[in-house]
This record gives sequence, structure tokens and C-alpha cells, in this order.
Amino acid sequence: MNVRPAQFLAALAVSLSLVGCNKSPSSAAGGGSDVIKVGEYASLTGKEAAFGQSSHEGTALAVDDLNAAGGVLGKKIQLITEDDQSQAGQPATDVRKLISDDGVVAVLGEVASSRSLEAAPICQENHIPMISPSSTNPRVTEVGDYIFRVCFIDPFQGTVMANFATKTLKLKTAAVLTDVTSDYSMGLAKFFKESFTADGGKIVAEQTYSGGDKDFSAQLTAIKAANPDGIFIPGYYTEVGLIAIQARQLGINLPLFGGDGWESSSLVSIGGAALEGTYFSTHFTPEDTNAVVQAFVKKFQAKYNQTPDAMAALGYDSLMILADAMKRAGTTDGDKVRDALAATKDFPGITGNITIDAERNASKPAVILEIKNGKYHYLQTIAP
Ligand code: PHE
Repeated sequence: MNVRPAQFLAALAVSLSLVGCNKSPSSAAGGGSDVIKVGEYASLTGKEAAFGQSSHEGTALAVDDLNAAGGVLGKKIQLITEDDQSQAGQPATDVRKLISDDGVVAVLGEVASSRSLEAAPICQENHIPMISPSSTNPRVTEVGDYIFRVCFIDPFQGTVMANFATKTLKLKTAAVLTDVTSDYSMGLAKFFKESFTADGGKIVAEQTYSGGDKDFSAQLTAIKAANPDGIFIPGYYTEVGLIAIQARQLGINLPLFGGDGWESSSLVSIGGAALEGTYFSTHFTPEDTNAVVQAFVKKFQAKYNQTPDAMAALGYDSLMILADAMKRAGTTDGDKVRDALAATKDFPGITGNITIDAERNASKPAVILEIKNGKYHYLQTIAP
């Protein structure tokens, strides 16, 4: 979905012609026609394709459910999805196109914090509400008052895993292996270290890599020499799978643990047996016996023939929160929807009750999963 130069110029012309006026012809089209256009940008292809695909499937299921129930404000929801190919530079292009060419009234995305951070300023400038389903870096919603999320943030996630490390795994020391190209990884590493140290633990090794790397032997050798009790890896599934394999090859049989970036069925296909007995925190478990969750899991399985993961559940919740705000606002007007989103209270989401706080974040519990026999097993729920 690369934007061709002609399209880009057209988009530019539209956005230039809109400077200084609030009611753009394109946003009027989004609200004034017989459908409500909602934009979505996601990594449907490329390095983190599993993230974007899952999130999109959840969002698309929410479109089905809303439209089957008569739509929103008497109109059907039309989801317009752009594939950012997991590539820096693309989210900004995609979101400009969604706003200027398509006239969407709101934007959903992204999973990865770095890509949300790239596109959020464009939504903010245009007064188009953006809801990230699953970006956990605190800076995402700090971009401005039109930027929301339906998930918890990494200061909480870092604390959850630090407490788990000291209390459940009984680690006294830890090593941290961070992706320096990822805002998510850098933030989560920092928050984990702060909490682990505050819990009385000691960080004995800190190593880094760059997303896309394939060889982690130098870092793992240095970590092995520091003799930690466990290794915290705040990365994405693509690298985590390889890191686990290479750690085991080097004879490192310590507990490995990380955050929500691990979550993908692809993690186990990459890392296989090397991941046995490892742990990560995330937003959702299909093992949750709550009736709302089980109904969602059944519907998702019927549509896609697979079990939903955290991104699917959060993708679903992101559109449901938007629809709820539009209903309460009684309009798709960006400013009014923004105000309604900010007032969201106790919305019964699939990933828990969602209340949007003053920083436009959602304070929600985390779950910790263990990988056993190639499957994720629910261990604990940690309330904020
Ligand atoms: N929280 C991660 C980020 O901010 C993205 C993610 C969410 C990945 C949920 C997997 C599951 O980059």
C-alpha cells in the first residue's frame, strides 16, 4: 500500500487546502455520508506482521458486531486499513492518507510504540482522535490530548515483572537485554531495572541489540560471564525466539522472562523448546473464565479458526471504546468524540474494565503467562 507520488500530491493538496478551517470536506464525508469511516494502521506485513494481523482481526470482529447490532448513530462502521509494513516512515504516510484522502473520523493503531509515536502527532495536529490498542510506552499518549490507549503502560508492566522476578522466581540478580531501536524495549528495560533495584535486586549485566539482528552470541556470552539469576528480555517475539535458542546453545539454562512484546503464536514457532519454562506479562488470556471473554473467544474462533491473543482482544476493545464514545457524544465530530473518550468510565472491555484516566491511559490488570509444552499457560493476574 505504498502511496504513489500522484496520490501523495493529491493528499498534500487536500491537507494544504484545509489549513485554517476546522470542518474539512473530507471529515464531513466521514461523518456526513451513510457510513462512519474509521482508519486503522497496522503492521499487516513485514517484521512484526503477527502483531498487525492479530490486532486487525480483533478490530474487524468489532466492526462485524457493531454493524450487526445496527451500527453507530444509525450508520455502519467502515474500517479503512493501511498496512505500514512494520517499517519506520510508513505510519506517518498511512495516517496522513487516512485523514486527508479518506476523511476518517478517528484512527486506531498501532501495536508497536515506536510506530504509534510516529503517527500520533499527525492525529493530534488534525484533531482526529487516535486510540492505540496496545502501545504501552508512556510517551505515546503524552503526544497530546487527542491520543488515547486502551491498555496499561510500561511503568506498571516493568513493576509487575520485577515483582514477579523477586517474589515468584526468587531472583536476586538479573541481566537485561534491550532492543535499542525500540521505544517500547528501552522504556520497559528502564522501568524493570528501577523496580527490580527498588525490590532489592541487582542488575549485573546490561546488553543491547538492534531489532532485526540475528546473532546474539556476543551479548549472551557477556551475560553468562556476569552469572545472573535470570535474564529479562523486553523485546518482540522475532528476536526473543532467536535469543532463547542461542542462550540454550551457550548452555545458559536460566529463567528468561519478558513483557507483552513476546506475545505471538510465532514466538513458539521461532524459539521452540528453548522457550520452555519462560514467562511474560501481557493483557489477556483466553483461559479467562469470564463470560464476556469466553463469548469473544468463541466468536473469534468461529470467524478465524484460531484462538485470539492479547492484540486481538485489545484491537476489539479499541473500536468498541470509540463506538461507545461516539454514541455518548451523539456525533462523530473529533472534538466531541475526544471529550467523550476522555470521559470513558468502567467500560466492560474484553481485556478488563476500561476507565480512561487524566493522561488518557487505561489502568488495567496484567496477566503473567508461562510457556509450557509449546503453549501459553495462565499463571497470575496482577492488579494495578
Ligand atoms: N506493548 C508493545 C509496544 O508498545 C506492543 C505489543 C502489545 C506487543 C501487545 C504484543 C502484545 O510496543
